[in-house]
Amino acid sequence: MGEAAVSMRGITKRFGKKVLANNNVDLDIYHGEILSLLGENGSGKTTLMNMLSGVYYPDEGEIFIDGKEVTIASPKDAFDLGIGMIHQHFKLIDVFSALENILIGLPIKESEKKCRQEVEEICSKYGFDLDIDKKVYDMSVSEKETLEIVKTLYRGAQILILDEPTAVLTPQEIRKLFTILRNMKDDGKSIVIITHKLNEVMEISDRISVLRKGENVGTVLKTETNEQQLTELMVGEKITLDIARDFVEDKAKRLEVKNLTVLNPDGKKVVDDITFDLYSGEILGIAGISGSGQKEMLEAIMGLQKCEDGSSVIYNSTAHGVHELVGLSTKEIISYGLHLAFVPEDRLGMGLVGNMGMTDNVMLKRYRKGKGPFLHRKKPQQTAEKIKDELGVLTPDLEYPVRKLSGGNVQKILVGREINNKPTVLMTAYAVRGLDINTSYAIYNLLNEQKKKGVAVIYVGEDLDVLLALSDRIMVLCSGKLNGMLDGRTASKEEVGYLMTHLKEEA
Ligand SMILES: Nc1ncnc2c1ncn2[C@@H]1O[C@H](COP(=O)(O)OP(=O)(O)OP(=O)(O)O)[C@@H](O)[C@H]1O
Ligand SMILES: [Mg+2]
Repeated sequence: MGEAAVSMRGITKRFGKKVLANNNVDLDIYHGEILSLLGENGSGKTTLMNMLSGVYYPDEGEIFIDGKEVTIASPKDAFDLGIGMIHQHFKLIDVFSALENILIGLPIKESEKKCRQEVEEICSKYGFDLDIDKKVYDMSVSEKETLEIVKTLYRGAQILILDEPTAVLTPQEIRKLFTILRNMKDDGKSIVIITHKLNEVMEISDRISVLRKGENVGTVLKTETNEQQLTELMVGEKITLDIARDFVEDKAKRLEVKNLTVLNPDGKKVVDDITFDLYSGEILGIAGISGSGQKEMLEAIMGLQKCEDGSSVIYNSTAHGVHELVGLSTKEIISYGLHLAFVPEDRLGMGLVGNMGMTDNVMLKRYRKGKGPFLHRKKPQQTAEKIKDELGVLTPDLEYPVRKLSGGNVQKILVGREINNKPTVLMTAYAVRGLDINTSYAIYNLLNEQKKKGVAVIYVGEDLDVLLALSDRIMVLCSGKLNGMLDGRTASKEEVGYLMTHLKEEA
């Protein structure tokens, strides 16, 4: 394979006294290869790569670029060495155009004309689609990611690190990204990709390095491994993946959704005349290519979207009586026991306050129960402790600022909090995005427990195998329309996949 482009030797990184994020890690990255970095939430993937991109400086160890020892003390040092990283949270300026974002921080003499021309060359060489004059606030997540990558390449990166780039992309966008990554690899670049999705790892990588509790526990060739072996390397034991699906006899109709219709700002129907019932004691799985109306539908039920005339959502519960939800405020809807855990693309942007610890973040949603926000810390503390145990949140203590936790750990708190709010209707979307396998299973178990308690659960998911194993019924959305309602116990993956991509009335 020749000399490595990057060699990390004996890298150790601590945060304070309590957190050993990386412990004596060796890692090689070669020219013209795609290396996947795999590991459970909090295993130290982002931290390790941050030491290549100059965000953190190792406590111990050496880094070599093309065989020469280097010091990377700042992002600028990293750039000068040809290392670029695309972070989990994008670092773009919203009000600037793509071009302005690319030029920002570069010497002023850098001419706009030259930049346009070079960006065009980069785009056609690797296959990017980028509108260079578009403002960032008008861009989709995928466009922002494209911009980040192009920006990094423009600055001459030979070594590209992508931290969970696929977590927020649709399957089509992932296809496109992978084509681009392959083109970059063929051009001799070194690429590191972090992802929790094993099928992606098996599709895109040449080699895979696995971190466990901050240590590199093995590097394997893609051609010589499989998903089972990778899972075992990651968690350190053989695990059997098996989702329970109980049957609840006694069901009551909780929601009667009728002709639900939502328009987007352009006047296009994003939720198109949807009608269905939701029962207590069931998990209704929602399948669909992302962007098919899942988000808007759940938001409409929660009073977060304006519904068109004729839309109706009748809610019926023993404790709260019968209500038409359309027209009610979100606050009222939440007070009736309906909860929505929507895992946003920007986990810290919505729902959690980064500077606060777990207890305070749990309290954010519960303060109504106390006399004042500071009076009742004990209950939220217990809830925080419970979430920490059930989902294995890695945090030094309950008051530790959540922004310092790994991406997956932040999300565990977000989902754990909604599930622990004792809902009667619990809607979750993309609950396991960015979570490792064991934690994902802990979430499935929690949802099942809720269902057994008589909660009506809606689960919007991306993984069809999980949807088929977990759901009592599966609703398939396609272009904002309800395109099929299937029995979760008998439906096949092919059937669901077909309904996701073929509108019935057009077939
Ligand atoms: N700035 C920081 N201050 C304190 N602790 C930190 C900081 N950054 C990371 N950590 C801790 O270091 C450990 C490794 O975190 P890291 O973000 O590298 O994990 P990860 O493998 O990327 O996880 P995920 O898959 O959840 O993104 C975690 O326990 C995390 O809480
Ligand atoms: Mg991470």
